[in-house]
Amino acid sequence: MAAVSDIGIDLGTSNVVIYARNRGIVLDEPAVVALERDSRVIRAIGMEAYRMIGRTPSGIVAMRPLREGAVADFELTSSMLHHFVVQVIGKRMFSRPRAVLSLPSGINENEKRNISAVMFEAGVRRTQLLDRPVAAAIGADMNINEVYGSMVVDIGAGMTDIAVLSTGRVVVSDAVKLGGDHFDDAIIRYLRRKYNLLVGERTAEELKIAIGGAMPRREQMYLDVTGRNLISGLPKLMRITSDEIFEAIDDPLTALIEAIHAVLEHTPAELAADVFDAGIMLTGGGAQLTGLADAITTALKVDCHVADNPQTCVATGCGRTLENLADYGRYLNDRR
Ligand SMILES: Nc1ncnc2c1ncn2[C@@H]1O[C@H](COP(=O)(O)OP(=O)(O)O)[C@@H](O)[C@H]1O
Ligand SMILES: [Mg+2]
Repeated sequence: MAAVSDIGIDLGTSNVVIYARNRGIVLDEPAVVALERDSRVIRAIGMEAYRMIGRTPSGIVAMRPLREGAVADFELTSSMLHHFVVQVIGKRMFSRPRAVLSLPSGINENEKRNISAVMFEAGVRRTQLLDRPVAAAIGADMNINEVYGSMVVDIGAGMTDIAVLSTGRVVVSDAVKLGGDHFDDAIIRYLRRKYNLLVGERTAEELKIAIGGAMPRREQMYLDVTGRNLISGLPKLMRITSDEIFEAIDDPLTALIEAIHAVLEHTPAELAADVFDAGIMLTGGGAQLTGLADAITTALKVDCHVADNPQTCVATGCGRTLENLADYGRYLNDRR
């Protein structure tokens, strides 16, 4: 029988990523479930369900059960997690793998316990939890075991985790309900206010990724999008510029930088000095916003870097702890 692969899982507010020991990333899917509104029968999970967002036939809803960083619907969260885990490890009768899991910060103790039970039902022998910032830092190749302050900011869709670590422990941290979703929402609000144009979430995200930025683009870019004109009620095609998106996301961007600033302010002086020396590491999908590291560097006068493959850092960090229990095992938490 093939060796059982232990797994690291990032259960994010918009994506679930799984890292298999000695294999790397084996799953990266939207944390979306599509279900029948009345019967609540699940119709699709992951990518297939994501494609249904905003364009589901009547009677079917596609939703993100962890959207706000907390469990909006525990049953759906469980079904989704179960589905992805079984997809990766297969149906196992005898050799059960172990797992390290990183959850959104908004989850409560009771839910944590229940999630471990869900993992067991999916075939995992033992599930341990890893704090999201610690996982992100390990996945971003930061040297966290040293007596040295390092700062990591994991920017997800619904939440951002900001933490200063030393000797692998979180010294100061904050988890704010602010992430990629809030940038998308700001774009939707802006276009409605300015043009009476109503665009969907996916269009807003597309604008953010394609032409958005935390600094003005050196060369103006544009994207043609279709929305609904709120006056006529009819579809309308409009050309949106990068300057407009830059203006649109000013509020969430300022709030994000403020939140990082606040954590730095509460960091003990010695550790803060280390952070000023080594810089801030950005992880999470939201870290990929064009110019974000530059904007933070400019605002806070601290060097800021985006990790390689920021969106998979947390899952990689979870998986690496299982590959190297000698160095990282002590950061794992058990829930029974
Ligand atoms: N190139 C990009 N530019 C800006 N934002 C991005 C980019 N790629 C992904 N994102 C955003 O990253 C967020 C998802 O990040 P992720 O870490 O997967 O979230 P979570 O951990 O909450 O599941 C989404 O809001 C998405 O719009
Ligand atoms: Mg993430």
